[in-house]
Amino acid sequence: MDECIRDKIASHGNISFPKFLDLALYHPTLGYYARTDSQVGKKGDFYTSVSVGPLFGKLLARRFLDWWEGNGKPTSWRILEIGAHDGKLAVDILTTLREISSEASETLEYAISEPLPRLRKAQRERLTPIAKRLHLASSLSELSSSPLPGIAFGNEILDALPFHLVEFISEEWREVHVGIGEEGSLELSNGNHASPLCEKLGNGFPENYRTEIRTNFRAFLESVRSCLTDGLLLFIDYGFAAPEYYDTQRTTGTLRTFSKHKAAEDPLDRPGELDITAHVDFTDLARAAAQIGYFPTAFSNQGSYLTHLAKPLILSGAFEEPKTIAQFQALTHPAHLGGKFHAIELTKTGSVPPEVAHRLAL
Ligand SMILES: C[S@@+](CC[C@H](N)C(=O)[O-])C[C@H]1O[C@@H](n2cnc3c(N)ncnc32)[C@H](O)[C@@H]1O
Repeated sequence: MDECIRDKIASHGNISFPKFLDLALYHPTLGYYARTDSQVGKKGDFYTSVSVGPLFGKLLARRFLDWWEGNGKPTSWRILEIGAHDGKLAVDILTTLREISSEASETLEYAISEPLPRLRKAQRERLTPIAKRLHLASSLSELSSSPLPGIAFGNEILDALPFHLVEFISEEWREVHVGIGEEGSLELSNGNHASPLCEKLGNGFPENYRTEIRTNFRAFLESVRSCLTDGLLLFIDYGFAAPEYYDTQRTTGTLRTFSKHKAAEDPLDRPGELDITAHVDFTDLARAAAQIGYFPTAFSNQGSYLTHLAKPLILSGAFEEPKTIAQFQALTHPAHLGGKFHAIELTKTGSVPPEVAHRLAL
């Protein structure tokens, strides 16, 4: 991968950071996600909430069922999971739906948008025996020709979208590019003035303040929207509202690499072998959604979001098994996944609850 990137730079000049990420993460044969060993879970590079156990999917299934019941029980509806890895979360959701409502489960199409053929194959093997209607697509546009009412959601998908790296130098924003240093290895170098890109951040940052910025949320959300006639969008990811993200104390941004559960900060270390991510600016996501007619109706940390969904189960005494309690604690405890992750729901309603607007600094 390193050589492939150096060849690209040698023939085209320094490359932008999103271009570098496209290659390092999504190159069809050499990119990080093309690797055949599993990236998620104990043997992989990082855990997600799915790795904790089936409770995460069980709680999401309850939310989706609630949407279906509250929206006239459509006789044909879709749950679209974006980036479903090996299909484990889909199994947990489908199993729960079948247990709770055969009507909802009979009328459901479970769709997945997953760019990697290797993962689509794993998803097909896992889900064919349990999904009544399964639609596995390599891209969102493949699903847009047959939209249905329903839900589109992604767990840890937004942080995987490429981002720009920018630095505040001598009172102005500069973009950071990837080039080749004197000794022939990859290096980060100062690129173009990035003022238009960074307009929303303003000025007054410390010298050499480095952060990340995404410009692809609107295009991404547009593709997601086109897969539904109407419905709910839900994203769960690590990140914050803009004031916390771009706090002047956060001088080195949120970019992290992950390998064998160790986090580091050098994106040029063994490209293609390590995951590279950056947190999500949820304020920016909400603004991009508003441009296409979707508005945030819920935004909270994962702990509060899942506790709210779990309330009926807790009250009915269904949470007695030690295994379930341990999963609930891992998913909701502020020091574990509950505080690090946030959940945002977007719908076409147009009215944003005041506490949501406040938390998102809108
Ligand atoms: C960090 S993993 C999250 C996996 C899974 N959602 C979970 O919670 O365990 C990111 C996944 O998103 C997929 N992905 C990345 N970009 C995508 C896109 N534009 N559309 C759909 N899937 C994408 C990758 O192939 C990878 O499976």
